Amino acid sequence: MAALIDGKAIAEKVKAEVAAGSERLIREFGEDARPNMTLIVVGSDPISKKLVNMKANDCEASGITPTVIALSESTSEGKLLRLIDRLNRDDDVKAILCQLPLPEHISTKRVLAAIAPEKDVDGFSARIDSDDYDVAACTPAAVMRMLRESGVDVAGKHCVIVGRSNMVGKPMAIQLLLNDATVTVCHSKTEDIASHTSRADVLIVEVGRPGFITADMVKEGAVVIDVGMNYVDGRPTGDVDFPEVEKKASLITPVPGGVGPMTRAYLLVNALTLAERRAEK
Ligand code: GUN
Repeated sequence: MAALIDGKAIAEKVKAEVAAGSERLIREFGEDARPNMTLIVVGSDPISKKLVNMKANDCEASGITPTVIALSESTSEGKLLRLIDRLNRDDDVKAILCQLPLPEHISTKRVLAAIAPEKDVDGFSARIDSDDYDVAACTPAAVMRMLRESGVDVAGKHCVIVGRSNMVGKPMAIQLLLNDATVTVCHSKTEDIASHTSRADVLIVEVGRPGFITADMVKEGAVVIDVGMNYVDGRPTGDVDFPEVEKKASLITPVPGGVGPMTRAYLLVNALTLAERRAEK
């Protein structure tokens, strides 16, 4: 039976580190150095609104000043790009987040590309040709921290990622490579996914399909990280068939209470890093 990786508990530790870091920064450079974050949410999707409110509350608890800008569903791409341009040029704005998904008439690619890299708190513009990863994509950074906290050293291990999104799968592969793992990335066109997942020492899943990973797809003693966040009858559910896979894995993350709270905590880490970089310039 697997031991649980308690994302909620590790996230509390990370948040306390960020709060201490914010205090240290303000002590050294004054109140103007306080980290802040501008969160943009477009439309009225209740889950997006709830997540943005949770992120803003997390900010307040960690000494980071949040500003939430809520725009209507009918906001044009041009208007959103002009807002981002204004925030990019505003010296008082240190971190910008645009909550995804955006309404269909707005190009996610153009909007994310418009956010200045030095204010990109999601870490989406982290370069792949550099190991300067101090502002890394939040979910992969969160997963790496959860592995470290659980005593899992990925060096030389076979890590299999299921999912190749820009937000998780691709940056996750890079973070693992930077830590000397051997990495396989599976996706919707991969033939016989189980032949790959069943050889994974560490299996990281983000496919958006509840119960996609079944026990027969998992190696005995594997570490299983479930990045999935699906809602089944209104309840958050991961991509892993937890009750069955738990019997086979050595370590596993629950949903909820696994990767989710850690991703939000790493947003705060990034906000602090962006504020530190600016204060030390
Ligand atoms: N929507 C769901 N997760 C995320 C995230 O990590 N960042 C942003 N900007 N939007 C999201």
